[in-house]
Amino acid sequence: MIPTGANSARLAALPDFPWNRLAPYGERARAHPGGIVDLSVGTPVDPTPSVVADALRGAANAPGYPQTYGTPALREAVSGWFARRRGVPALDPDGVLPTVGSKELVAWLPTLLGLGPGDDVVFPTVAYPTYDVGARLAGANPVPADGTVSVGPAAGRVKLVWVNSPSNPTGRVLGVDHLRKVVSWARSIGAVVASDECYAELSWTAQPVPSILDPEVCGGSHEGLLAVYSLSKQSNLAGYRAAFVAGDVALVRSLLELRKHAGMIVPWPVQEALRVALSDDEHVAAQRELYRARREVARKALTGAGFRIDHSDAGLYLWSTRDEPALDTVAWLAERGVLVAPGDFYGTAGARHVRVALTATDERIHALASRLS
Ligand SMILES: Cc1ncc(COP(=O)(O)O)c(C=O)c1O
Repeated sequence: MIPTGANSARLAALPDFPWNRLAPYGERARAHPGGIVDLSVGTPVDPTPSVVADALRGAANAPGYPQTYGTPALREAVSGWFARRRGVPALDPDGVLPTVGSKELVAWLPTLLGLGPGDDVVFPTVAYPTYDVGARLAGANPVPADGTVSVGPAAGRVKLVWVNSPSNPTGRVLGVDHLRKVVSWARSIGAVVASDECYAELSWTAQPVPSILDPEVCGGSHEGLLAVYSLSKQSNLAGYRAAFVAGDVALVRSLLELRKHAGMIVPWPVQEALRVALSDDEHVAAQRELYRARREVARKALTGAGFRIDHSDAGLYLWSTRDEPALDTVAWLAERGVLVAPGDFYGTAGARHVRVALTATDERIHALASRLS
């Protein structure tokens, strides 16, 4: 007999895949004579920039195994990008590791760090669901908490603290002071801080988005810190699965050793696409302007229809509310052919918001505006 018992227990510990709950609203929205405006998921819709696609094609001849660590040129490119774009002048390229998209790293980090029963993994109360999933996969305790104080006396069990700035779904950006407090608290209890920063290049204010690795935040030492980054959104290559983790050299090397054994390797053509994409700021700037224009149209349409938009200073979502239960708002929009995600998909604290994604064509975003006017 196949011993599925342990596996079933592990699966049972995972949260339900909530998107099934949206299906009837999707059907309703699709029935609109002008077709659905689907703003429920954050998947890019614009073409992969040719500079990136050419790099992938140019590396198509790949008979040998790629390096799990990534090539030195790729790790240098990541370090150069941090210096140029993120205010991190001295990231050691030895502390960089490419990942197969960032979702897998988020889901497996607690396991790769050796966490398990009795260990706490802290993440924001309204958050991308995979932080919770990762804790559960490792058999550790998922602990949603926004402030260091709210963790209270259990702090001794905390081994990993996730921050996500800019946040999915709220678009909230954490400032230097906030991040500095998280770092000093985590260091005082011996916990690792992992900072998921994948929307950092998509800021809608004049303020840059600080990285956890910024010397102002971490005092110049990357000890105990990991920045998690993805090019899926800024370079329209979610289909390539191109991302990386960077920071504490010793931690990164320990992840590397395990990932080598497990075959968690980024394909060589993708490593090349990642290197080239990170070295070209022009296509990111062009994509940012596309989203800025869509965001403006969507923001005006929603506020004109009586919505309030909270946070949403950066990233690809408008965190919107009509001060009613999220599913009522989802239903109201579905009547108008528009599909959005209810905020409680991201935690009970999101129960009166909906997440409106900006990842739709100009034509669909204008359809949103005309339907709400
Ligand atoms: C906050 C956050 N982290 C990680 C990811 C995963 O991105 P990817 O696996 O495409 O790198 C997403 C994707 O939506 C996200 O919103």
